[in-house]
Amino acid sequence: MYSILKASHSHFAWLALLAIGIAAIVALMSYMGKKGSPQLKTFALIGLIMAHLQLLMGLILYFVSPNGMSNLSGATMKDSFGRLLALEHPLMNIIALVLITIGYSKSKKLIGTLAASKTIMIYYGLGLILILIRIPWQVWP
Ligand code: HEM
Ligand code: HEM
Repeated sequence: MYSILKASHSHFAWLALLAIGIAAIVALMSYMGKKGSPQLKTFALIGLIMAHLQLLMGLILYFVSPNGMSNLSGATMKDSFGRLLALEHPLMNIIALVLITIGYSKSKKLIGTLAASKTIMIYYGLGLILILIRIPWQVWP
């Protein structure tokens, strides 16, 4: 169970990052061009679904991984890599996922408008940055 989940979370990370990134870039280009994008809704939805799937895998992983919740201790907090896997990465990514979900939800009412592009650009962009700064780059890819 653990090894399958860990491998899935590890490989699916590519898809999630790519989908969130594409939606953020499409939104950025639409915003820079001062023109709403009719396709953005689809990109934003795909980004949301990939991000939610990754969240679901991450949440389960947190409870079954020896590097997740079971590794929380004073000693782990003193070890930067242990702390990254058991605390910083999960917490930061949950915050990022909340931002992305709020962004999608807000943009749903603004389909195709410039305001929708601005919303996705800001929320997905911020979410992506938060995810990227707490990826365990030492062991991935
Ligand atoms: C831990 C697991 C998950 C949590 C906590 C979660 C949470 C949420 C929340 C709060 C929303 C509401 C957004 C809104 O206001 O419209 C949402 C929407 C959505 N979620 Fe998730 N989700 C999870 C897993 C998944 C999975 C596994 C998938 C799919 C494959 C998924 C697909 C979606 C989709 C498609 C929507 C948007 C529906 C719409 O168009 O309004 N989610 N999710
Ligand atoms: C979009 C969001 C996320 C991305 C892109 C992501 C990506 C990654 C990557 C690349 C790894 C390293 C995998 C490896 O060692 O090969 C990892 C590990 C891990 N992730 Fe995530 N993750 C996300 C969200 C989450 C969330 C929300 C949680 C938990 C609440 C979580 C929990 C974990 C845990 C516990 C590990 C360590 C697994 C182990 O070494 O046993 N992740 N994640």
